[in-house]
Order: sequence, then C-alpha cells, then structure tokens
Amino acid sequence: MSVYIINGGQRLTGEADVQGAKNSALPILAATLLCRGKSEIHNCPELSDVDATVNILRHLGCEVERNGRTITVDSSQVSANEIPDELMREMRSSVIFLGAILARTGRVSLSTPGGCEIGLRPIDLHLDSMKKLGAEVSDEFGHICCESNKRLHGAKISLSFPSVGATENIMIAASTAEGVTTIVNAAREPEISDLADFLNSCGARISGAGEGTITIDGVEKLSGATHTVIPDRIAAATIMAAAAMTHGRVCLNKIIPAHLGPVIDVFEEAGCRINTFGRSILIEAPSRLKAIKTIRTMPYPGFPTDIQAPVVSMLSIAQGTSVVIETIFESRYKYIGELARMGAKIRVDGRMAVIEGVREFHGVPVITPDLRGGAALVLAGLAAKGQTVISQIKHIDRGYEKLEQTLRKLSADIKRVDVNE
Ligand code: UD1
Repeated sequence: MSVYIINGGQRLTGEADVQGAKNSALPILAATLLCRGKSEIHNCPELSDVDATVNILRHLGCEVERNGRTITVDSSQVSANEIPDELMREMRSSVIFLGAILARTGRVSLSTPGGCEIGLRPIDLHLDSMKKLGAEVSDEFGHICCESNKRLHGAKISLSFPSVGATENIMIAASTAEGVTTIVNAAREPEISDLADFLNSCGARISGAGEGTITIDGVEKLSGATHTVIPDRIAAATIMAAAAMTHGRVCLNKIIPAHLGPVIDVFEEAGCRINTFGRSILIEAPSRLKAIKTIRTMPYPGFPTDIQAPVVSMLSIAQGTSVVIETIFESRYKYIGELARMGAKIRVDGRMAVIEGVREFHGVPVITPDLRGGAALVLAGLAAKGQTVISQIKHIDRGYEKLEQTLRKLSADIKRVDVNE
C-alpha cells in the first residue's frame, strides 16, 4: 500500500503539461471493439482505470499493445461477450462496454456495476436505450444481459437526464445500427465530442455531438483509426486549485481552455488572475482567496461535479462563507469529514455544503474516500501547516497520472511512500 506524505506550505510555481482525459480514453478504448481492425489511440493517461479497460479488451479477445501513452487495439478477433465480475469490480465505468459488445457480437452479459463511493449510480438509462435500439434486456439479481439476434436498429431516444455514459453507449451501439438514431437531451461534455470524432474517423456518421441533440446515421461497419485523446479538464482544474491554494503562479500546457469555461469563472471570482493563450492557461493566485456566493454542479457546460471536491477544498481556506450545491451525485461529500480533521469548517445539509473559510489547514493523517475527494485532500495537504499523510491513494491513481510527479515539478514537497499493510 502506498501513502502520500506532504509537507505543506510550498508555493507552487512553474509549468506543467496536462494528462489526457480519463473520461475520453475509457469510452474510446471500448469503442475500438467495433472497428474489426487496428486502432491507435494516443495520449491515453497511465491510470489504473485505463489498465482495467485494457484488461477487459484483452479478455474479450482483442490484441492490445501499450507503448507509453499510446495504446494499439486490434479487434479483428473478438472471442467473448461477457465481462466477469472481477473485471467489472475493478472499474465501475466498465458499463461503457455495454453498447460496444452488444453491437459487435449481438449479445452482452455483465454484472451490474452497482453503487459506489459517490452514489447509487443506476444504469436504467443505458438499458432502456439498448431496448430502444432493438435489444432484449434482462436485469436480474445484479446480472445484466442484452441480446439481439439481428442488427440493432435506429431509434429516437429522449434521455430524462443528459447522462454522459448513456449518451456514449448509445452513440457507440447506434454507429453500426440500421437506420438513424437521434438522442434528445444528450450529454454535451467535451468527452462526448471526442468519442464522436474517434467514431467518425472510423467511418461512423455522427453529427451534433457537443449539442443537445445528436444524430447517428448507422453504417454497416467501422474500421480502425488513429486518434489523440483530448486533455483532461478535471486534472487541469485540480492543478489550478493547487496553485490557487498555495499563492502560486502556474502555467498549464496542452489543455483546451474553452473546456474550462465555468471553472475559470469560479477561480476569477475567488480572486485569481487567469490568462489563456492558445493551448495554455496561466493562473496567478492572490495572497488570500475570496469566498464564492454559490456554486451548483451541473451537466456541461455547467460547473462539473468532478471539480466539486477540489473547489470545496480551495474555498475552505478562502475569506468568507461559500455555498456549494451538488446536484449530480448524492454521496459526493464523504471527503469532508477528513477535511474537517484538517481544520475545515463545513456544514453539510443534504446536497448543500456551507463552507466557512478558515485561515489554514493543519497536517494530520487522513484517508482517501474516493477519486476526487482524494484530490481535495492532496490540495489541503499542499496548503496545510505541517505534514499530511494520505492513505488509500489507489483511489487517486484511478484518475490522476503520477500526481506527485506533476506537483513536485511545481515545487511541492510531496512523495509517495510504500508502507506495509
Ligand atoms: C461520467 C464521468 C464522471 C462524471 C459524470 C458526470 C466517465 C467515465 N465518468 O460518469 O467522472 O462525474 O459523468 O459528469 O466519463 N443516472 C441515472 N441513470 C442512468 C445513468 C445515470 O439515474 O442510467 C444518473 C446518475 O446516478 C447521476 C447522473 O445521472 O446522478 C449523472 O450520471 P452520468 O452522467 O451517467 O455519469 P457517468 O457517465 O456515470
């Protein structure tokens, strides 16, 4: 087991490159299953969630080669259509394989991903959509099976909520369905557009990705393609928060500033100076951050739920009282108890967190409850007086590529240490 040991109080300065987006890499890798040939995906972040995705592709019969951040998938041969329980448990997002396996083999069988640290996470929208595309769906005692003895067919699918994963599963499955599929109230996240770009370069005909209505004109088959994953806007915002909390001055490169619109507004309101130029963003923090009136997490282009925890950590040491409302996931405040141990004054009432800014955090041992909550604790550790020891950092490794190396490059005093369990 590894822990992070952080000696807080170092001002973050310098430049860093931002990793490729985890939430793009996973669906794109799943979609390679439909290509019946070789696809080469660049800028895949080196994360445990990506490792889990590669394990699933190999289990399904694909030949997968990894060369640093480039993953080559040859899906000429697919020999399985079920994902065993142990692989599903490695990564909740494995449900992203649903549409790809169904469209490729006519049948998919997997265990339900179930709830996780951040909420119940139902997949009803995914399953209803597969039904609309012509599959028979059974969902019994945690085991899901979708089957169709003929090619899937196009359909009009109106989502009651713009689910990212459901939109992706529909786009993938409908790419090779017969006829036209329309997704109404589709998710508009940049990762949706990235997946559409990949599928289109494989021969799919998808238009409207990034807008509320997506149209997929099904084609007979897809072929392999080369694609570069977009930068990770969540990782970028996390480093921005680290700079903001340490009175830092940091330039982040290899990002797309437009993807960070609502996040930049929040940092500016907190008193940071932000300059964007080309594919870079420069953040300069004030001597004391200011509170934010209200932040409400929303589907894109609203404020991302994945940046809620890092920003709550930041506002914990701002001057004044801030309010954050989490509208997407019901259990996304588990890290707050740990932040409180470090000195934060936060009152949680259902989905609302009221943050009364304190002068500083104090370093203590804390435990990572989930991926983004873990990032919030790292940020608090960087800003804290004294030493913070963070355990269960395997959660952080799911989404941040060698976070300690990026932060060390910016002068942070953080190290990963192996300890006996
Ligand atoms: C994706 C991201 C995750 C991000 C989330 C919201 C990946 C791998 N993960 O997760 O980092 O936090 O988008 O931006 O891309 N819901 C249902 N029924 C469904 C599906 C979803 O009720 O069938 C609900 C969920 O419980 C949740 C909300 O819809 O309350 C949003 O979920 P969704 O957009 O599907 O998130 P994910 O795709 O799981």
